[in-house]
Amino acid sequence: MGKTALITGASSGIGRAFSELLAEQGYDLMLVARRSDHLRAVATDAAYLGVHAETYALDLTDPAAITELDAALSGRDLDLFVNSAGVGDFGSFTESSWERNEAMIALNVAACMQVFHVVAGAMAARGHGRIIQVASVAAFQPGPLMSVYYASKAFGLSLSQALAGELAPYGVRVTALCPGPTRSPFHDAAGMRIGSAEARSMATAREVVEYGYRAALRGKRVAIHGFAFKVMVFLERLLPRAVVARGVGLLQSRRRGARRGARSTGE
Ligand SMILES: NC(=O)c1ccc[n+]([C@@H]2O[C@H](COP(=O)([O-])OP(=O)(O)OC[C@H]3O[C@@H](n4cnc5c(N)ncnc54)[C@H](OP(=O)(O)O)[C@@H]3O)[C@@H](O)[C@H]2O)c1
Repeated sequence: MGKTALITGASSGIGRAFSELLAEQGYDLMLVARRSDHLRAVATDAAYLGVHAETYALDLTDPAAITELDAALSGRDLDLFVNSAGVGDFGSFTESSWERNEAMIALNVAACMQVFHVVAGAMAARGHGRIIQVASVAAFQPGPLMSVYYASKAFGLSLSQALAGELAPYGVRVTALCPGPTRSPFHDAAGMRIGSAEARSMATAREVVEYGYRAALRGKRVAIHGFAFKVMVFLERLLPRAVVARGVGLLQSRRRGARRGARSTGE
């Protein structure tokens, strides 16, 4: 029997890299994102590897999208679910756009919960499956100048950790993959200014997903990518949250000043 993986955010960045890796591993793919042309390109590449890929051009913040996904999963035996769809927004909270904050919460929090609910229920009923939630190292700390984004990633991490325990007796393993800054269009879309030195120091999406996939196969519940970030998360636990928030705010303030949407980090 072939294996099947559902990937949200499959049109770009980490989700796209997961789609490519899983196609190489022989998974049939269910690819979800809004941009159908990008999804079709991923599906075409997968077809060269002999795997079947279906595309679902859905805006996950639309409740009808969750219903459609639920219907598409009915009767399917899903082996792996990767939830990578996510957006960020850079800038001070008081000057931030209400609409962008709402859209961020709708995707990173509400849709995350809804897709988890649909997928986890189906996997638990069948008695097997693996879930990878693409969280972030941002999930471990408050993030001045990206306050809503950091809080939304904390939601995904907490949900994953809780469900890892709750679903284990049903044969479902949940991994929260926590990358540090990773080369993708994410930063430009969020309006962050990334200098060339920082861009060079970032992990590639491929490095992140290879690590995340291995961690999921090992049943790791929280997988922080990169030794420096593992140390950072450990040390932060020893410090008062106010001190951590101040440090993050200082680092973030260097990223002020980008025009949202201008591509600078490659990929
Ligand atoms: N890049 C980093 O430094 C970094 C670090 C840690 C964690 N992460 C997390 O990694 C995940 C992926 O980010 P990335 O770096 O790969 O960024 P990206 O390249 O911008 O990818 C974001 C993905 O989300 C999809 N998406 C956005 N809005 C959507 C919506 N309303 N409905 C359905 N899909 C939607 C996008 O596709 P469409 O535009 O086609 O819909 C795209 O495929 C995010 O959850 C992010 O928080 C990123």
